[in-house]
Amino acid sequence: MNAQIKAIGVYAPSQIIPNDWFTDKIETNSDWIISRTGIRERRFAGKDEYTSDLCVNAVKNLLAENPGVTLDGVDFIIVATTTADQIMPSMATRVQNYFNIENCGCLDIMAACAGFVYGLILAKGLIAAGTHKKVLVFGAETLSKFTDYADRSSCILFGDAAGAALVETSDKSKIFNCVTGSDGSHGKDLYLSQHATVVDGEQIDANGKIHQNGKVVFKWAVRTMSQKINELLTINNLERDQLDWVILHSANLRIIEAVALETGFPMDKMLTSIELFGNTSSASIPLAWDIAAKAGKIKTGDKMLLLGFGGGLTYAGVIVEA
Ligand code: UT7
Repeated sequence: MNAQIKAIGVYAPSQIIPNDWFTDKIETNSDWIISRTGIRERRFAGKDEYTSDLCVNAVKNLLAENPGVTLDGVDFIIVATTTADQIMPSMATRVQNYFNIENCGCLDIMAACAGFVYGLILAKGLIAAGTHKKVLVFGAETLSKFTDYADRSSCILFGDAAGAALVETSDKSKIFNCVTGSDGSHGKDLYLSQHATVVDGEQIDANGKIHQNGKVVFKWAVRTMSQKINELLTINNLERDQLDWVILHSANLRIIEAVALETGFPMDKMLTSIELFGNTSSASIPLAWDIAAKAGKIKTGDKMLLLGFGGGLTYAGVIVEA
């Protein structure tokens, strides 16, 4: 069985947080944030707005913007998130219940900012195995609820959003070969822990907020993602100029620029969501896709390389046809 991404839908909360929002809380300024990250503003969920609400709204937008597409026959839901409303039940069952989808497997996965691409790869696997036909995949986060606002190097980065992709059977394969991998030795360089734990012999904080060693992750991301883009081209027998778009996780515009330079892609082929949404973790790739689609950039049949990376450290990449 072949798989395709039939439709994409996204949602970001209405509350816009400009860079200046931080200037009376921490020692920073908008020029620093823009020049070091590319971020101008981000969205924060409301007090009573949670990750599952963002997922539901992403599906509503997907349906409204894709006439003829329905949830009839959805038989599996995968939600990639690190910021679930609660640990149990899963966000996938929240979505299933809201839309009253019957006979549907539900599962949350945790692969931080790489989660959406991991979800696509799993959905393709379910369809290729012939056990499922129509899978909803989400990358969804309310990072603002898990941000340490006393840490100026991380709090200015994060934003909230959700992206949904409907993956279903297809006459022709449109989700191609993938790469996945991890380096757990960097676990202590990016974590969110509710309990006091020891990682690699080191006691780590347990205040339920995101901790990041930005410099280490930055260097790892540029080196590893550049290698993985070249690997994805090789295993898919594609030359660089046969690829229409690259969507690297929007963690920092400087990472995207450095990877573009290293791999020989012009910046106008790199689609991002960083400028107006910040780092939305697992939601950043569908968000960048949606922004570019609405700007009329992405055409049916375009070849797109999607590559997520983050806490783990872990990564997942795949080439798809729009
Ligand atoms: O999504 C998951 C994956 N995450 C990532 O890929 C994140 C990767 N890392 C990054 O994006 C960057 O490392 C950061 C944006 C987090 C930090 O940027 P940087 O260029 O690596 O800054 P830095 O940590 O080297 O700090 C440079 C200077 C320091 O001052 P000194 O020591 O040179 O005096 C910081 O204290 O900038 C200072 N600084 C700030 N200044 C103004 C750090 N944060 C701020 C701030 N405003 N918000």
